[in-house]
Amino acid sequence: MNRWLSGTAIASALAVTAGSAGAVELEVMHWWTSGSEAGAVQEFANAFNDRTDNTWVDGAIAGGGDVARPVMVSRILGGDPPGAFQFNHGRQAEELIEAGLMLDLTDVAEEQGWADVINPPSLLDACTYEGRIYCAPVNIHSWQWMWLNDATFEEAGVEVPTNWESFTETAPALREAGIVPLAVGGQPWQQNGAFGVMALALAGEEAWLAVNQDKDAEVARGEDYARAFQAFGEAREMADGVSVQDWNQATNAVIQGEAAAQIMGDWAQGEFAMADMVAGEDYECLPGLGDIAILDAGGDAFYFPQQSDPEVEAAQKELAALLLDPEVQVAFNSVKGSLPVRGDVDLGSVNECTQKGLQLLADGNVVPSGTALLSPDTTNSLNDLMTEFWNTPSMTPEDVQEQYAQIIEQAD
Ligand code: BGC
Repeated sequence: MNRWLSGTAIASALAVTAGSAGAVELEVMHWWTSGSEAGAVQEFANAFNDRTDNTWVDGAIAGGGDVARPVMVSRILGGDPPGAFQFNHGRQAEELIEAGLMLDLTDVAEEQGWADVINPPSLLDACTYEGRIYCAPVNIHSWQWMWLNDATFEEAGVEVPTNWESFTETAPALREAGIVPLAVGGQPWQQNGAFGVMALALAGEEAWLAVNQDKDAEVARGEDYARAFQAFGEAREMADGVSVQDWNQATNAVIQGEAAAQIMGDWAQGEFAMADMVAGEDYECLPGLGDIAILDAGGDAFYFPQQSDPEVEAAQKELAALLLDPEVQVAFNSVKGSLPVRGDVDLGSVNECTQKGLQLLADGNVVPSGTALLSPDTTNSLNDLMTEFWNTPSMTPEDVQEQYAQIIEQAD
């Protein structure tokens, strides 16, 4: 059991916030605060307000998942749980479920036939604990992308790169033109996330799975990973000059042409779309950094803390069902830049980047997401380490590699 949970906290978390009969004001907590994220979550709110008697009370928390998740957990443990909250697919909620704090959604899932429509089935598996279903997955996102602004490369007089190596070769020309090659936000999850993408692309699938899935510290210490750490050292230099915190501020630096590229999950696409940029014309996307044709299948799911008021519970279940409604899935995911979790809906005509993503998923070129493989504690330790490296120029790739391997050695 980690530091979040203690006996007294669990007991008080079962205290209730009652809603008025028949029409519940349901607070929904999430960290979707960029322009495209806010637009997407509004689709959920509209559907809940229009199609049920209840009211969506928006509980957005700025600053990303690492800021939001501890706030959500302390609300739950402090006896003031929200009606629903967003976590990533995977292991983030496992201790809350084990502690009996989450509402069992198995009846909703059975009634709505989730097992027949959720695709890939691993998304429903990630919500299942001892045969019961505790979350509603809402989308598929992947981390494994680099986004590039065509105009910046044109301005620097070089071709738009097609993989990591050719990207690094453009860096001197970009610098010469006053453009920062790579935009990386200051929050630790962005640095650790970018490293994870580079590790899969440059160390290869086998090594990445050995480290993240099998927790093989010798592979983390080995030559394949050494390549990824060296490249991450180069990335640190290439990112010098953009100093922003949030991921979408870094995306905006690319959109504005202040920086040329960003390694970020495909939620970045929502921001390019909002800026009216066209994939394949104004910006390019390289899944697997152009080096490896693989995506991870991560994304978001909603969990519902147990409440003792049956009206609240009924509203929670109505929301859970609605999140997977075919129309709601299309409305939300079209704005979010993610893929629906239902195999039986399509988004209409999708852009070049989403097509590439869909093709990779259809071909089965998929690895599990980091949030499915690593515990929150391990991820936090890696975040801390990678941000220390990022902000300490005297720390070498060799130093960080050894410390990374030690964390993997301890990981469960
Ligand atoms: C979530 C995305 C979100 C991104 C940035 C990820 O953890 O899965 O839905 O857009 O964080 O906020």
